[in-house]
Amino acid sequence: MKPSDSKATLSFSDGSPSVEFPIYKGTIGPDVVDIRKLYSATGKFTYDPGYLSTAACESKITYIDGDKGELLYRGYPIEQLATNCDYLETCYLLLNGELPNVQQRAEFVSTVTKHTMVHEQMHFFLRGFRRDAHPMAVMVGLVGAMSAFYHDSMDINDPKQREISAIRLIAKIPTLVAMAYKYTIGQPFIYPDNELSYTANFMRMMFAVPAEKYKSNEVLVRALDRIFILHADHEQNASTSTVRLCGSSGTNPFAAIAAGVACLWGPAHGGANEACLTMLEQLNANGGVAKVGEFMEQVKDKNSGVRLMGFGHRVYKNFDPRAKLMQETCKEVLAELGLEKDPLFKLAVAMEKIALEDDYFVSRKLYPNVDYYSGIVQRALGIPTSLFTGIFALARTVGWIAQWNEMIADPEYKIGRPRQLFTGAAPRNVKPIAQR
Ligand code: CMC
Repeated sequence: MKPSDSKATLSFSDGSPSVEFPIYKGTIGPDVVDIRKLYSATGKFTYDPGYLSTAACESKITYIDGDKGELLYRGYPIEQLATNCDYLETCYLLLNGELPNVQQRAEFVSTVTKHTMVHEQMHFFLRGFRRDAHPMAVMVGLVGAMSAFYHDSMDINDPKQREISAIRLIAKIPTLVAMAYKYTIGQPFIYPDNELSYTANFMRMMFAVPAEKYKSNEVLVRALDRIFILHADHEQNASTSTVRLCGSSGTNPFAAIAAGVACLWGPAHGGANEACLTMLEQLNANGGVAKVGEFMEQVKDKNSGVRLMGFGHRVYKNFDPRAKLMQETCKEVLAELGLEKDPLFKLAVAMEKIALEDDYFVSRKLYPNVDYYSGIVQRALGIPTSLFTGIFALARTVGWIAQWNEMIADPEYKIGRPRQLFTGAAPRNVKPIAQR
């Protein structure tokens, strides 16, 4: 954090003395006004619900320029990572700050691969869930439960233990997601195969059955790997901020990541891909492309409570670079599977076209986000809708753990404790019940 030459001065119309605050510069992006002394100097808080103007931490991991539609992991554009690297290289980058060389890559892949199995007792824990439980409900439970299984990597003050926890989470979450899926469909769990790549192994654990030989399709493996890269981190989004806030109390990493999984589940965040596909399926069943105009009128009507899922973003106000890559991936997957005429894809394209030309969306700067096409790709890969957010959680785990690790290693880190503007009752006395 570099101090800027300029300072910010806050003045008050009630005669209170004005206060000066330092300004810091990042490498790129907006400067920040350091208001940490605001309360002690003035007795006042800032008010910023939804954190529209608040930088909650200093970070070196991911940078987004929402106006330019730019997303950088450790300085590298997402487009270059998605086309030149695989997911595990991206994980290494997010965790360590640099892309691995050949030897570092081989060691990292080998370490992650050796941690893919989960404690056998996890199977019995999983069996306690109802078969029709939502996979995200199961994931919140399973990830939190990891803290009951891996006691030897929970000292957050030991960097080596933090590293082991990071590897365990990245390696085991695919196994847990696949187990959660197999459980809901009543098929036997498939153990990891360490001969396969990270993503090919995940697909095998999802789709193989013991009775048949399973063969990976490289185009589909590459598509899912790209989905993982595109979702790997996204700066201080809701679930990452949840992980940081939860982890700021000093809790163990598995508990903090479980909090992130819970937050991700919501339809305004990771649940959007599931909600988007459900929206497309419903529209397809109720008239398809012919009914798009009518549906869009509902979306624009504030009283309808209907949103165009997969559209809009708090940060991207021009385009979401991940959405472009996802649309390309979508076309590749549909072509590989001979599904070029997929009705949901056609519907999505028709709706996107209308939205991009409609003043409602243009004036509010609403564009397709990463989730708009990701549901169509995942459905084509054979992933059930209810598991989409689980896939997102799998991919985002590395971002959560990298951000958590950065926070714990920061000597300035403190427990997160926002304040409030209280508008409830002023102090009053309890009356005896007969007088109330
Ligand atoms: N459909 C219709 N109207 C919308 C939409 C949408 N998808 N998104 C925003 N608006 C309108 C909203 O009604 C508001 O209009 P007005 O100014 O007239 O009141 C305006 O646009 C600004 O919306 P907001 O809710 O104040 O914006 P936000 O920055 O708080 O919300 C968002 C961002 C992503 C939650 C929101 O755009 C949304 O709900 N989108 C649909 C859900 C979705 O696709 N989420 C995935 C986000 S990307 C993946 C991830 O990071 O998890």
